[in-house]
Amino acid sequence: MKLAVGLACLVGSHLAATGSLKSKAKLEKRAWATSEPSYPSPWMNPNAAGWEQAYQWAKDFVSQMTLLEKVNLTTGVGWEGEQCVGQTGAIPRLGLRSLCLHDSPLGIRGTDYNSAFPSGQTTAATWDRTLFYKRGYAMGKEARGKGINVLLGPVAGPLGRMPAGGRNWEGFSPDPVLTGIAMAETVKGIQDAGVIACAKHLIGDEQEHFRQVGDGFDIDESLSSNIDDRTMHELYLWPFADAVRAGVGSVMCAYNQVNNSYSCHNSKLLNGLLKNELGFQGFVMSDWQAQHTGVASAVAGLDMTMPGDTVFNSGLSFWGANLTVAVLNGTLPAYRLDDMAMRIMAAFFKVRGTQDVDLDPINFSFWTLDTYGPIHWGAKEGHQQINFHVDVREDHSRLIREIAAKGTVLLKNEGALPLDKPKFLAVIGEDAGPNHNGPNSCDDRGCVGGTLAMGWGSGTANFPYLVTPDAALQAQAIKDGSRYESVLSNHAMETIRKVVSQDNVTAVVFVNANSGEGYITVDGNRGDRNNLTLWNGGDELIKNVASWCSNTIVVIHSVGPVLLTDWYDHPNITAILWAGLPGQESGNAITDVLYGKVNPAGRSPFTWGATREGYGADVLYDPDDARVPQQNFTEGVFIDYRYFDKHNTRVIYEFGHGLSYTTFEYRNLQIQKHNVSAYIPTTGLTEPAPTFGEHSTNYSDYLYPEGFHRANRYIYPYVNSTDLELASGDPYYGQTADQFLPPNATSSDPQPLLRSSGKNSPGGNPQLYDVLYTVTADITNTGALEGDEVVQLYVSLGGPDDPKVMLRDFARLHIKPGETVKFEGKLTRRDLSTWDVTLQDWVIRDHTKMVFLGKSSRKLVLGALLN
Ligand code: NOJ
Repeated sequence: MKLAVGLACLVGSHLAATGSLKSKAKLEKRAWATSEPSYPSPWMNPNAAGWEQAYQWAKDFVSQMTLLEKVNLTTGVGWEGEQCVGQTGAIPRLGLRSLCLHDSPLGIRGTDYNSAFPSGQTTAATWDRTLFYKRGYAMGKEARGKGINVLLGPVAGPLGRMPAGGRNWEGFSPDPVLTGIAMAETVKGIQDAGVIACAKHLIGDEQEHFRQVGDGFDIDESLSSNIDDRTMHELYLWPFADAVRAGVGSVMCAYNQVNNSYSCHNSKLLNGLLKNELGFQGFVMSDWQAQHTGVASAVAGLDMTMPGDTVFNSGLSFWGANLTVAVLNGTLPAYRLDDMAMRIMAAFFKVRGTQDVDLDPINFSFWTLDTYGPIHWGAKEGHQQINFHVDVREDHSRLIREIAAKGTVLLKNEGALPLDKPKFLAVIGEDAGPNHNGPNSCDDRGCVGGTLAMGWGSGTANFPYLVTPDAALQAQAIKDGSRYESVLSNHAMETIRKVVSQDNVTAVVFVNANSGEGYITVDGNRGDRNNLTLWNGGDELIKNVASWCSNTIVVIHSVGPVLLTDWYDHPNITAILWAGLPGQESGNAITDVLYGKVNPAGRSPFTWGATREGYGADVLYDPDDARVPQQNFTEGVFIDYRYFDKHNTRVIYEFGHGLSYTTFEYRNLQIQKHNVSAYIPTTGLTEPAPTFGEHSTNYSDYLYPEGFHRANRYIYPYVNSTDLELASGDPYYGQTADQFLPPNATSSDPQPLLRSSGKNSPGGNPQLYDVLYTVTADITNTGALEGDEVVQLYVSLGGPDDPKVMLRDFARLHIKPGETVKFEGKLTRRDLSTWDVTLQDWVIRDHTKMVFLGKSSRKLVLGALLN
């Protein structure tokens, strides 16, 4: 009989903490960063806050499952096996269909009659918690309407360490507090709509180059992001802690290695930090093909493998049949598989809020927009209706327009804006117009053409339509009786000159800079941007128009900062706006801002440096070591504004900067100290690992059922032989767990709780979130127009190794002319602490601390000592 899975996937496991076989010899020779082991993998806690009911329902369900069913739930069916980008095996006996896991963080990828929302980064620029939530909720509802069970977002990794990082726009901001709040609100929104959110990618997934072996790079292993303990806690893990505290149901581990151990089998990361310290109760899924080991990843804390096959369409899996074998032969303790199933089902029940498992069908196929086709796309089997073209958009276009307008940042305004019935409006640049092949002409938006409203890669959605700036501005101009002309080219200089050098012209120049995911290269950019300049001659275009027209307004659509240094202070450039990646309502939103229908209050979620070097950290484009690229995060917690501030480097526009059409005054800073009891480290032990249900030890129960039809390249939990060695095909078969798994990896004994963890509180020790101070001030609108002000609360912790200032809270306040509104911000214990690497806990140090309220990271208006 043919082997079910002829892969040596149970070996290599002993390398869980140090990388894989090929690189091991090299690793021993070098002083490379290493990741310490953390075992066993924590099991769920029945008393975890917010998970109690879900735990009980999951327990009922999982206790009825057979071993094969549990394996089926943890293992994807393989690339193109079903309709979604990832699906688990089904449990038909218990009425549960295969779970659908699908992209993206800004809409639903690759289908139709869905919305295309603004990117995470653009949404972050609103600094508006309500909008963060509403966007999450709307995306969750759309996902649910299509039959999706897990929406693969939001993104906190990349955080945005390097401005050229290709996927920064999918996430929010290099500031961990802004990202953390956006993560938490987005998670709550998605999950309130009944869909499991997925916080991704854990962690250090900051660049596209070298994220995987075989992307055309001559390397042995994926890049290792080498992050020290303090930086991990204070920067990169921070927003994930917020997502966990918000109850996120799933987390995706990343492609890269972290301290030379692959994220998806890094026990320190998954067991130690995520499940132990943060008390994460949901499940960890691998990024697609980011799993590199079998049992090793299971004991290191991975709970679900996606899409299930080792390599797309290989028909082979690290889990599936191999997981069945591993439990049957005792390599993997049954409790670990039970815990995987518990975590998946608890997340499932938690967001559904009911014990009922009867799901609506999946009504789309990611692989085609055709109505009929094979349901098992890879196998080309099961021809039937696979797309039902269900319209899930509701009235989300209004929200999309609101977020896009409120996330637009007015970087400069010399009185040119708002526009008021301009005599002659000239709109210049390709970025104002359509893609002539249609807004969805390139798969996953992997090309350039027309206005930029999202980046490229898996973090995309098809546009239901795309309102171009040209269309919307022309409609406005006609309504106003303005004269209107657009030249939708960056290169027709003579035509452009003739138009913009006329009298009474208001010229609006649209330019862009794009990036995306590394599996697509656009214009020579392999995901990451090659540089921080504008695309398609944008800088030349701006400079030319400004030389011909004394009222030149620049609108930038981009995936992050671009270098404005050469032209931002040109006297003829009267206004500059950053409109981010606005999604389907692009043109309407920018029209709202340019004409003052929305008074701009977006704030830049990153720094606009004067030079690329000013940012410090940068993308590694050439492997510094020939075989395993090492990226050392030597700047520590100093990224973006913290780096610029530390080195006192010039910036063009700082983090948090953004103008308004009105003015605000800040007065009366008050700091109220709360009487909070002293921090008590968590102590005690967990319960021993529970198991749920028995499994048969008769190996013939695990064979493919008689007459069972196997779809080509589909991943199943069954074995081909009752001879488990034969069934596994593992050349190392026979090694016992203690021969190749790290010490303690299979222990089911009660485990000590970490002092920084919460006994029953996801997110870490709950006292970290005690509010120690409330900070208030009076904010008055001193101008003539109604508007929003984003009040930013910064602290200086005062230590020699602390950033000059760090954002800790903010509020976007709506204020009428002459009106005064009270700002209230909070400072928690975590906000005032640093991570003590020796103690392995957060501590408030003795240094003199300051609190500031500001309009940006460099415009601190009010300040006081914190006593
Ligand atoms: C790889 C990407 O890194 C991840 O973000 C995405 O969710 C999966 N592919 C599935 O498309």
